[in-house]
Amino acid sequence: MTRSLSCCVTWVETTDRMHIIRSIEEMQREANSHRAAGAVIGFVPTMGFLHEGHLDLLRLARRRSDVTVCSIFVNPTQFGEGEDLARYPRDFDRDCRLLEAVGCDIVFAPGVEEMYPEGDTTWVQVEGLTNVLEGAFRPTHFRGVTTVVAKLFHAVRPHLAAFGQKDAQQVAVIRRMTRDLRFGVEIAVAPIRREKDGLAMSSRNTYLDKDERKEALALYRSLQTAQRLFSGGERRPEFIQRVVEEEILRSGAMKLDYTAVVHPDSMQPYEGAIDGPALVAVAARIGSTRLIDNTVLGEE
Ligand code: PAF
Repeated sequence: MTRSLSCCVTWVETTDRMHIIRSIEEMQREANSHRAAGAVIGFVPTMGFLHEGHLDLLRLARRRSDVTVCSIFVNPTQFGEGEDLARYPRDFDRDCRLLEAVGCDIVFAPGVEEMYPEGDTTWVQVEGLTNVLEGAFRPTHFRGVTTVVAKLFHAVRPHLAAFGQKDAQQVAVIRRMTRDLRFGVEIAVAPIRREKDGLAMSSRNTYLDKDERKEALALYRSLQTAQRLFSGGERRPEFIQRVVEEEILRSGAMKLDYTAVVHPDSMQPYEGAIDGPALVAVAARIGSTRLIDNTVLGEE
């Protein structure tokens, strides 16, 4: 359980060894004092309802920094109309217990009004990279992600921020934003954490019923097939893409949004034979749940 820390400024709560901060000003003050003391700040932005994949990010950030901050904020601007903002799973106390157990120092959990003050009209938008794959199906999604991550970087002032490879396009977009705006934040990426049967961990997996959960494994199977083809010498992107697509559609229950074989930094399709790392990205819907997954071919 969290409790208020009476000696401190309003909006600061604490568990036994972890601070919970709700205001941007307080977060900046805390970050500035750590920076002034020469500490390296590692940051993990999340929307909460944490799983082992998030905790891997925390562990990565902890290994590389002196002070670890995790933000929990379900960001309304990255959900499109008709998407799952209202039902997005939330359990703040459980998240705090998990974070404390992995040694997180600060939880930054602002409210919506704190992040988006009334009447605000400012967006941060990366162009090009954001209108393909996920961006083609969720046209306002990345604008919401880059805007909130820019605001979070501004509040937390991290030296390093950790993101999951599962959202491969998000990683590419955030790297570009960080470089273009010269944030001076190193972007670290942790591998996809999977359940024992291969399903990529996601807070949205909780939406799946038993049958859907089983059918969803078609995504992982399709990516394994891509890896097998590549290991066997196959280098034709369109052939790999077609086989991946067929494997997913074979499940019968999944509705495909896209399959793609693209350059991992530009998200542009491979033209001609694959001659470097290639991202195989898939997105499909099962029932009312949308899932994404990916694998990188030819990764050293
Ligand atoms: O990956 C996520 O959980 C979100 O997109 C992020 C980076 C926390 C921004 O809201």
